[in-house]
Amino acid sequence: MTNEMWGGRFASGPAGIMEEINASIDFDKRLSAQDIAASIAHCEMLAQTGIISRDDGEAIVKGLDTIASELEAGSFEFSRALEDIHMNIEARLTALIGPVAGKLHTARSRNDQVATDFKLYIRECLGSLDALLRALQQALAQKALLHAATVMPGFTHLQTAQPVTFGHHCLAYVEMLARDRSRFADARKRANECPLGAAALAGTSFPIDREQTAHALGFDRPMANSLDAVSDRDFVLETLSGAAITAMHLSRLAEEIVLWSSDRFGFVKLSDSFTTGSSIMPQKRNPDAAELVRAKSAAVFAAFTQLLIVMKGLPLAYSKDMQEDKIPAFTALDTLALMLAAMTGMVGDMQPDKEAMGKAAGAGYSTATDLADWLVRELDMPFRDAHKVTGAIVARAESAGVALSDMPLAEMQKIEPGIDDAVFSVLSVETSVESRKSYGGTAPENVRKMAQGWIKRLENESTSG
Ligand code: ARG
Repeated sequence: MTNEMWGGRFASGPAGIMEEINASIDFDKRLSAQDIAASIAHCEMLAQTGIISRDDGEAIVKGLDTIASELEAGSFEFSRALEDIHMNIEARLTALIGPVAGKLHTARSRNDQVATDFKLYIRECLGSLDALLRALQQALAQKALLHAATVMPGFTHLQTAQPVTFGHHCLAYVEMLARDRSRFADARKRANECPLGAAALAGTSFPIDREQTAHALGFDRPMANSLDAVSDRDFVLETLSGAAITAMHLSRLAEEIVLWSSDRFGFVKLSDSFTTGSSIMPQKRNPDAAELVRAKSAAVFAAFTQLLIVMKGLPLAYSKDMQEDKIPAFTALDTLALMLAAMTGMVGDMQPDKEAMGKAAGAGYSTATDLADWLVRELDMPFRDAHKVTGAIVARAESAGVALSDMPLAEMQKIEPGIDDAVFSVLSVETSVESRKSYGGTAPENVRKMAQGWIKRLENESTSG
């Protein structure tokens, strides 16, 4: 029976529409390996505790192994009518080994099953994101070492502020990514409790051993409350919140690459590998990969918000709403992995133009603070007064159209008679960055040390997960 209003897509009528909205197999088939692993752990526990016989247990595990190879070979046939990955696998198991397959679902529900599968999946993602973040940190730290003394303008309000080194700028991102990794590592710690055995919501009357299944699946312990176990999606949300912050960091770097590679800035060149030409303007080299990283961050933020909204009104314990946790999470985590890989490629690929950066670093009276600091140090002036004097000198230089380092001494002395020749030693961008040796400052000597430290640390560490 068809319905005119619903149109051709739902040709099979209400039942077809129900299948369309209800079935999750199109996306949760991704959890097949986790589903099999969790089923094997559950089955072995059932046999060990005597809830099912050893023979039945062995038959079930053998069947599950066969399904695992079918999935791997791509010969497994997924059916929408069977709704989700759990029922697809169970139906296949029944086809392979007969009614004994039905014993697998003793003391279990799809509610604790899906929570377990998804948590296993998220834990794997946390591991691979960590490895991708580390690779990007390595690319940035290597650039930083190479450009520890490459001077560029540092900005505040996107106005030239003070000279910094390009290496210092790269290391800023290495630090951000380190915090991102520690957020994921933290999420990973809390994802160490196993939902399996919570059954539908209340636990079970069978004498199951939840410690056994938890350990078999690599968890530290079972979750302590069955209601919480089936209704908790914090582990996804924590991962997505960390992913959102990482995506924001990547988007900022992407934005900088877009600016830097524009011909107004001309600070970096990207090769053909990460740019595209224009179909009409032959001179163009567009930073598409950076623009796409910037834009793709939106999908990651959206996924986090989307899942919060799905969850916020749900009474305990499981509601079918929670099936809608997977699409946003898969989308966000796939997207972030791609963003990280593209960014790592771009960072390795980009070539800073030292001359253009150096020239820009000197523009905009970027060493005015160095002049003020010199007045404080050499003439014992309070900083506020030094700030005023410097302002007056900058104003005069500006109206004369010269850089601070090209201001005649006599002109400066008209404003502050105490100034002497020695002042010129602090007015160049090179001496400016060299002088900023305070901990965390931009001095090439600092940056070199920091970059070397990071390179060594990143090389020696094993990634978590
Ligand atoms: N496909 C479902 C999901 O992803 C599995 C759990 C279904 N449980 C239920 N009681 N209908 O959430």
